[in-house]
Amino acid sequence: MKRKEKLKIGVIGFGRMGQKYGKEIINHPLLELVYICDKSAKAREIAFQTFPGVEIIDNEDRIFADREIDIVGLFTLADSRPEQIRKAIKTGKHVLAEKPVAEDIRTEWELLNEVEQSNLMVAVNLFNRNAWYHKTIIDFIRSGEICDLAIVRIAHMTPGHMPQEGHAPEGPAFHDCGMHYVDVARWYAGSDYATYHAQGIRMWSYADPWWLQVHGTFQNGVVFDITQGFVYGHLAKDLTHNCYVDVIGTKGIARMTHDFKKATVDMHGVHTTITKTDDFNDKKIDVLVDVFVKSVLSGTNKGFPTMRDSVIASDVAWKMLEDATKNALPCIGQLEDMDEIIARRSTLQNGYGLPLSILKY
Ligand SMILES: NC(=O)c1ccc[n+]([C@@H]2O[C@H](COP(=O)([O-])OP(=O)(O)OC[C@H]3O[C@@H](n4cnc5c(N)ncnc54)[C@H](O)[C@@H]3O)[C@@H](O)[C@H]2O)c1
Repeated sequence: MKRKEKLKIGVIGFGRMGQKYGKEIINHPLLELVYICDKSAKAREIAFQTFPGVEIIDNEDRIFADREIDIVGLFTLADSRPEQIRKAIKTGKHVLAEKPVAEDIRTEWELLNEVEQSNLMVAVNLFNRNAWYHKTIIDFIRSGEICDLAIVRIAHMTPGHMPQEGHAPEGPAFHDCGMHYVDVARWYAGSDYATYHAQGIRMWSYADPWWLQVHGTFQNGVVFDITQGFVYGHLAKDLTHNCYVDVIGTKGIARMTHDFKKATVDMHGVHTTITKTDDFNDKKIDVLVDVFVKSVLSGTNKGFPTMRDSVIASDVAWKMLEDATKNALPCIGQLEDMDEIIARRSTLQNGYGLPLSILKY
């Protein structure tokens, strides 16, 4: 690719995530936001108001046909990404994509193969990989401070995204969100999954489990447990959550917790104890956009999360869900409880993972 001062980008999908990306892209000194495409008239109206001067369109083919466009941002849902990624490969555009890259795992692996045979860069937003707190703990582990890493424990439980609120192509909560934590555990362990056993529960008697706990081993002998669920007290008077990482070595420990505003790492190594609190920074899209632009301009990956890591996490998360269905999968509660939760969320202005239909549409 010829050396350019600024890269031109077209965005497809201007919903909750697309709007977050739009804000970071428009402010990036090395990017020019040329197009925003969304099939929803309401989303296009918001785009018109937010970004005057950007072409707002309803047909993504305009972006792929424009030879000046260097990068496409794919922020729709998983069902439309395979076709969009294939169009990007055909028209030679780099890709900044949301996860997962397809609705089913076979298509994900096929796409990965096609991407890896191209000379294009494809980043997928495994946002934890851009988090200062995880990088800090991983550096601590790799420095030998906890001696041999033995146990990785992760929990992510919030009164968050409910069935029927969108994201259907991304699957139940453990896939839609849980694949992030499947990826984080593998990143910490520095090894691939070997064995696992999953236990789920069909909260509110909904068809799919909305809470899952998995434990098992990595190929290097590290053991893990991951607990993920959007079932954490949706109807409590005051909403709260429980999110942490807890790593245990043969001689020390390191842990992290956050309140979605600030994150705190607390690391107790053999030579040093470090406690640090800093901004949580939501989905770290500023970091992702910046590292991706610099990677495309330099022709080498400067640290963006790869499609391979995303496909592995998606694959393993689906398999863990499948494992849970083979084990006892009890039902607790009634579908009416779920309706009550969805009704309450429809009036919230401040909550966990509220769909845009509630906030703006
Ligand atoms: N990485 C993360 O932490 C994270 C967090 C939330 C969501 N996501 C992912 O981001 C993606 C988007 O999620 P969201 O919450 O923004 O969803 P959303 O429903 O709010 O937005 C999707 C937008 O895409 C538009 N759209 C859908 N198909 C289209 C098409 N073919 N052409 C043009 N526009 C199209 C819709 O009209 C909508 O405006 C999902 O894949 C989701 O899994 C990732």
